[in-house]
Amino acid sequence: MNTPRIKFVLSQKPDASEVTVHGWVRTRRDAKNICFFELNDGSCLANLQVVLDRGGSVADDDVKRLQTGASVEVSGTLADSPGSNQSVELHAKTVRVIGDSPADDYPLQKKRHSFEFLREIAHLRPRTNTFGAVSRVRNTLSYAVHRFFQENGFLYIATPIITASDAEGAGEMFRVTTLPYEKIIASGAKSIDYSRDFFGKPAYLTVSGQLNAEIYACALERVYTFGPTFRAENSNTTRHLSEFWMIEPEVAFCDLSCNIDLAEAFLKFILSAALTECTEDMEFFDLRIQKGIIDDLRAVIETKFARITYTDAIAELTGSGREFEFTPTWGVELQTEHEKFLTEHVVKGPVVVTDYPKDVKAFYMKQNDDGKTVRGMDVLVPRLGEIIGGSQREENLPVLENRISELGLDRDAYWWYLELRKYGTVPHSGFGLGFERLIQYVTGMQNIRDVIPFPRAPGAADF
Ligand code: 4AD
Ligand code: MG
Repeated sequence: MNTPRIKFVLSQKPDASEVTVHGWVRTRRDAKNICFFELNDGSCLANLQVVLDRGGSVADDDVKRLQTGASVEVSGTLADSPGSNQSVELHAKTVRVIGDSPADDYPLQKKRHSFEFLREIAHLRPRTNTFGAVSRVRNTLSYAVHRFFQENGFLYIATPIITASDAEGAGEMFRVTTLPYEKIIASGAKSIDYSRDFFGKPAYLTVSGQLNAEIYACALERVYTFGPTFRAENSNTTRHLSEFWMIEPEVAFCDLSCNIDLAEAFLKFILSAALTECTEDMEFFDLRIQKGIIDDLRAVIETKFARITYTDAIAELTGSGREFEFTPTWGVELQTEHEKFLTEHVVKGPVVVTDYPKDVKAFYMKQNDDGKTVRGMDVLVPRLGEIIGGSQREENLPVLENRISELGLDRDAYWWYLELRKYGTVPHSGFGLGFERLIQYVTGMQNIRDVIPFPRAPGAADF
């Protein structure tokens, strides 16, 4: 723990003083009287090359134990490296194998493994270059999220994970219960008495912290929440998870246009952080995962996001002459293929689609005067489609009450939400950024299951 990390060691100049490092052996190569091995400790993408004289101070039996995957402690001195990959290497005096790794069945062999295979060994995949890099980018970007909001006067609010209300009104919630379902079924009961459940009523895992964030925005003006959210939707795609992390700012005295400005500034701040703070990892993604991604992200940072209404977007789609699997139709939610077409071919960059038909969006969105559309907005980006969803919220009490009853939602369940409109109501807005979609966008990783350490998806909850 107190030894220097490899990232630091690699930044040092050759020196006669002794240094000790810890790490896992990545590869090993034997020359006549010398053993070379590469050590990685996750602090950076690069390995530290260690050079060991055979027949020197380290017993040959110990040298044989330096197999891929073994954990070791090495002490020695830093010297100029003749190899082109690194500026310094460690000339070992002592080597201690802490944990052996049987070479014949270590699942991470030197060859490239498919991401599908690596998903099956999620306990070992952080030891690969790709998953090390994804983890470091994820870490840097979570910190950048907090930095952006803290620097802009937002308060970080913890919103509940267990909730009794459906924030999206879409019914895609996982139930949280301590009721003995098997016994209830065996007893032949015709219905379930939730008053006897743990919370005295039905409870769920939250789909969004938004409604709770609105409470705090209507008192503290600028707040954000950043936590896990859950969706029981049966979507087996490369961009859906059942458990994902969402960043949700909520701002009072802010309309839709102000909300879009915030989303744009926020996204650009985060992309800049990735490029300036994760240089080595981003070069890796550019080289190995998504060619040209650094230039793409740089262009996004420098370009003003386009804005288009849903109605104009539908016109673009229908007028494009393109054959879509789902015909674009006014009044129907945009499909991923439509979103991608808009951002990749029409705009060729990020685009914010606004003013959706009210029937495709959640009950809380502010209604426009046309009686048909709402002040919602989705930010679409190339390669992915929707990355952010948000809106101005309906702050007018009778209008919101009408909408809740129109949709057949339980008014009583939202009583506190409605009271925010009764006492000192204010125009306010917010959005949600799916953190894993962001990591996908920044790294170019194809499958969302490879940008979260332990993905949860329909039929998949291992590790
Ligand atoms: O568009 P959504 O459903 O919006 C909300 O939940 C609002 N309450 C947010 C708000 O206004 N505070 O989700 C927001 C974002 C999406 O744009 C997407 O990036 C991500 O969350 N997302 C998912 N990410 C991974 N897997 C899923 N199943 C996701 N569903 C949404
Ligand atoms: Mg959405």
